[in-house]
Amino acid sequence: MADPKCVIVRDPANGREAELPVREGTLGLAVIEVRDLPSRLGYFTYDPGFVSTASCRSAITYIDGDKGVLLYRGYPIEQLAEHSSFLETAYLLIHGELPRPVELTRFTEDIRREALIHETLRKFFEGFHHDAHPMAMMVGVVGSLSAFYHGELDIDDPAQRYISAVRLLAKMPTIAAACYRHSVGLPFVYPRADLDYSENFLNMMFSVPSLQYGEDAQWYLDPVATRTLDLLFLLHADHEQNASTSTVRLASSTGANPYACIAAGIAALWGPAHGGANEAVLEMLQEIGRPERIPRFIARAKDRNDPFRLMGFGHRVYKNYDPRAQIIRKACHAVLERFSPADPLFELAMRLEEIALNDAYFIERRLYPNVDFYSGIIYRALNIPVNMFTVMFAIARTAGWVAHWLELKADPGQRIGRPRQLYVGAPRRDYLPPAAR
Ligand code: CMC
Repeated sequence: MADPKCVIVRDPANGREAELPVREGTLGLAVIEVRDLPSRLGYFTYDPGFVSTASCRSAITYIDGDKGVLLYRGYPIEQLAEHSSFLETAYLLIHGELPRPVELTRFTEDIRREALIHETLRKFFEGFHHDAHPMAMMVGVVGSLSAFYHGELDIDDPAQRYISAVRLLAKMPTIAAACYRHSVGLPFVYPRADLDYSENFLNMMFSVPSLQYGEDAQWYLDPVATRTLDLLFLLHADHEQNASTSTVRLASSTGANPYACIAAGIAALWGPAHGGANEAVLEMLQEIGRPERIPRFIARAKDRNDPFRLMGFGHRVYKNYDPRAQIIRKACHAVLERFSPADPLFELAMRLEEIALNDAYFIERRLYPNVDFYSGIIYRALNIPVNMFTVMFAIARTAGWVAHWLELKADPGQRIGRPRQLYVGAPRRDYLPPAAR
């Protein structure tokens, strides 16, 4: 009799059988451990896009896509969105527990102290043309941090790993705002110790010489703006083994410098199927332009011969609703009321959502609005330029990336990531000299 915590795989071609152990997590589907499959049955597994494959053990984030559940370290995202802040949530992701007040104060101080970037790093921006995409600058500049923190960095030392994680979280808003200032030709603004994380970012983005604009130009320090930005950061902070986090983990598994690993994550985030979707949503809404044109775009999204997809719709994991989208949808109302009442794009987005949610194509495929369907509308109301939207995502996701990096580094069973493949190329053949080809 097989162990009840095993499944038996049988190869009918030769009658060989393998008992594969089943591993249970705290929540969610159990997994079948297949690491001995090649030696037992002579097969690898094949799972393009890792649709059914767990690549690691993790205790950070749990998602139940069918029920629309998202937990950070066990806490529902709805509760964190209502009661927590981005930095408190980042602490939770990194340390596994909510901080006591003294711990949060220390963590906030650590972040404040590390928010400045080296003056030499500021010069890196001069190498970029003014119209360089900010994500291109982010990949380059964050990767360049590895040139400043490498030789002395001992990533086997947990204290030094913590400092690297703090540095990354702290410097991301400074670097992101510098990308924007460079593109519009404004002088860089230093982080301020009297402002919190989101206030500091908005100040570094939008602060202008007060002589010209006057004190009341500080609209961006309005509590509705700073609280909503903080909420968006919190909602985007982690999402378990998504493409960019898996990229960070894969790069980290080789022992690479952490700043280079996060730059790899930023590169993976950039694509429109992942973090680039928020930028693509806004471009799509602008292209649709008027409610009367919605049916034409819905028809295009359903046409298999047209590559157009309804951006901000669908998710690899959520097949019911994305809980983050529901929270953001509510936040949209408050921000628009304050900064951009009667935004026609918001009206258009709500109409598009309604039409898609009642369309058989989207119902059958369980395609719902995802987190990025509404985030772009909020960023727009906050005057964040469209090409900075994915940068905003990167700032937030750094909390998750560093939490996963720390988890991976602390795992004694961690091995270099090295997937297998199903080879479909030419069989072995002999080299032919040019004249014989
Ligand atoms: N518009 C139209 N059809 C769609 C869409 C869409 N947005 N998304 C999926 N489909 C269709 C797809 O054509 C396929 O149809 P069929 O079964 O007839 O071939 C079916 O739905 C399943 O799609 P899939 O591509 O197998 O699903 P996936 O899990 O591989 O892709 C996704 C998930 C998010 C990449 C995809 O839904 C998509 O491209 N959405 C638009 C981009 C977007 O909003 N991305 C942001 C994701 S949330 C932010 C983040 O976490 O990064």
